[in-house]
Amino acid sequence: PLIALLGVPIEIGASQRGTLMGPDALRTAGIGRVLDQLGFAVEDHGDLEMTAVAPSDGPAPANAKFYDDIKAWIRALSEHAFLLARSGAVPIFMGGDHSLSMGSVNGVARYWQELNRPLFVLWLDAHADYNTPDTTETGNMHGMSAAFLCGEPGLDHLLGDQPRVSIGPDRLDLFGIRSIDPLEKKLVGERPIAVADMRAIDEFGVGVLIRRVIEKVKAHNGVLHVSFDVDFLDPAVAPGVGTTVPGGATYREAHLVMELLHDCGLVRSVDIVELNPFLDERGRTARVAVELVGSLFGMQITDRRTPSNAVL
Ligand code: ARG
Ligand code: MN
Ligand code: MN
Ligand code: MN
Repeated sequence: PLIALLGVPIEIGASQRGTLMGPDALRTAGIGRVLDQLGFAVEDHGDLEMTAVAPSDGPAPANAKFYDDIKAWIRALSEHAFLLARSGAVPIFMGGDHSLSMGSVNGVARYWQELNRPLFVLWLDAHADYNTPDTTETGNMHGMSAAFLCGEPGLDHLLGDQPRVSIGPDRLDLFGIRSIDPLEKKLVGERPIAVADMRAIDEFGVGVLIRRVIEKVKAHNGVLHVSFDVDFLDPAVAPGVGTTVPGGATYREAHLVMELLHDCGLVRSVDIVELNPFLDERGRTARVAVELVGSLFGMQITDRRTPSNAVL
């Protein structure tokens, strides 16, 4: 099994600068080494580079900061993601802020569509990222990526010539959310989006809720993309993010999520986003993120799984 690492050092989709250092921090924390020790062949494709200025194709939408620059990143990344998925590798997109998912997920979705396998997206995040230019309060595009991927209007020319492959809101699972803007909340409420907010996690536990996600993907013969925003974690565990929200997933909850996802065998691509090394404390957030990647790719304590007759 081959894992392809791709750095996407984009920071202008977020309110705070510094996520451009994310890919290097993940490398320094040993992401390649951990996967290598788990028996994967790991290819590091380096960082996506953005030098040329994107040709302007019409006026940028209002309320979408740095639209033209982000557009250039997303177009390049979507194409790259498509090719990586087609190569048979499991791509890990190392951010960079969460706006990058508009390209990574669109690209892998294009590949799975050609194979007639529905792609489901698990959004591990404190936030819903379901704003459109009409609903956003900040104009930050990292808060719009899930909405864009579900086909919401407002950023319609973002991909240019790249095919846009929307996943549809019924294939999105928001997991861990605890911060949502008023209009964003209304929009999510109107869509058939599965939401496991922190209240649900407290009430039912991540084991039950993640198994529900997995069963849905299985029932549709689908595959899963995991979009892991590091602010899913509690700030006590993961201080190195620009948009911390108290009351997040604990270290143990997050590992269990990753272990269950590994065991289901359906994860085909991953984003790790919003890690901001400038705000981190001696690399601890990068280290936790890498440990979680380890669990997602098969690191186990005893090599003994939950017996399958214990599921639900
Ligand atoms: N909802 C807020 C906004 O639209 C925060 C989004 C935070 N997103 C993130 N990927 N950390 O600006
Ligand atoms: Mn670099
Ligand atoms: Mn977030
Ligand atoms: Mn996010």
